[in-house]
Amino acid sequence: MSVSQRSSGVAEDVKRVAAAETKVRFQNVSKSYGSIEVVRDVSFDINEGDFIALVGPSGCGKTTMMNMLAGFTKPDSGAVLLEGRPVEGPGPDRGVMFQDYGVFPWLTVEKNIRFGLDLAVKRGMSKPEKTEIVERYMAQMRLTEFRKAWPKNLSGGMKQRLALARAYAANPHFLLMDEPFGALDAQTRSDMHDLLLEMMQAERKTALLITHSAEEAIYLANRIFVISARPSRVVEELTIPFGEKRDRDLLDTPEFIERRRHLRDIVMKQYADQQALR
Ligand SMILES: Nc1ncnc2c1ncn2[C@@H]1O[C@H](COP(=O)(O)OP(=O)(O)O)[C@@H](O)[C@H]1O
Ligand SMILES: [Mg+2]
Repeated sequence: MSVSQRSSGVAEDVKRVAAAETKVRFQNVSKSYGSIEVVRDVSFDINEGDFIALVGPSGCGKTTMMNMLAGFTKPDSGAVLLEGRPVEGPGPDRGVMFQDYGVFPWLTVEKNIRFGLDLAVKRGMSKPEKTEIVERYMAQMRLTEFRKAWPKNLSGGMKQRLALARAYAANPHFLLMDEPFGALDAQTRSDMHDLLLEMMQAERKTALLITHSAEEAIYLANRIFVISARPSRVVEELTIPFGEKRDRDLLDTPEFIERRRHLRDIVMKQYADQQALR
C-alpha cells in the first residue's frame, strides 16, 4: 500500500468515527416567515449522548430550530440532518415535550402514558411488555397512585411528570424539550431537574432543551448554545464539565457560580439586542 493510500484510509476512518457520533447536524440552516428572517445560516452538530441547552431571548427562533429537528417545519435553505439524513417529518425516535405539557385531557394518567407508547411502538411488543413499561415510568414519576386520575385534577408538577413519563415510555433516541419547566414553582422545578438527570443516567439519551434559565442550562447540559437576537445564530458555545452525577450542592460551587455569571452576561446582551428589534 502506498503512503497516499494509507493516509486516505486513515482519513476515511476518522470521518466514519465522526459520522457515527454525530446525531444531528444543522448545516447552514436558514428560515424566514414572510418578511421575518428567523434563522440565518446556522450550523452546529449534536453528538450522541449530548445534553444540549439552547439559551436565548424570546422570539429569537429557538422553537423554530427545534421544530425543524422535530420535523414540524422545514428549512428554506440548508439542511437538518438526523443520522446523516434530512429530517422529513416527525418520528417516534424524537420525543417532544412542550411547556403546555402535551398531555391529553381526555385520557387518564395511565392511558396517557400508554398512548405515547402505542404511538411509538406499533408492532413487536406484547401487551404485558407494554404494561410493564407503563408501570415502570408511572412509578418512576411517582404517579402510580394517580393512575386513574384525569389531567385536570393534577397539579402543574404532576402534569409535567406525566408528560415526562409519556415521553420516556416511548423511548425516543432524542428528547426535545421546549421550556418544559418554565411554568413550575422553584421546588417542583428543582425536583424535575433531578428526575430528568436520573432518567438520563439510567438510559443514555440525547437531549435538546430550550430554556430561559442560565442555572437550569448549566445544571442539566453538557453543552450550551447561546442564541443571538433575530436572525438567530449561535453566538457562543459553552462546554460544561460537571460530568453525569450532579446534585444541588453543585449550585453553590465557585465553578458553577462563575459559569452562571458568564452565561447571564452574554444572554443579557442578546436580550437587549432582541428588545431593540421590537
Ligand atoms: N408559524 C409561524 N408563522 C409566522 N411567524 C412565526 C411562526 N413561528 C414563529 N414565528 C415568528 O418567528 C420568530 C421566532 O419564533 P420562535 O422560534 O417561536 O422564537 P423563540 O422560541 O426563540 O421564542 C418570532 O418572531 C415568531 O413570531
Ligand atoms: Mg419558543
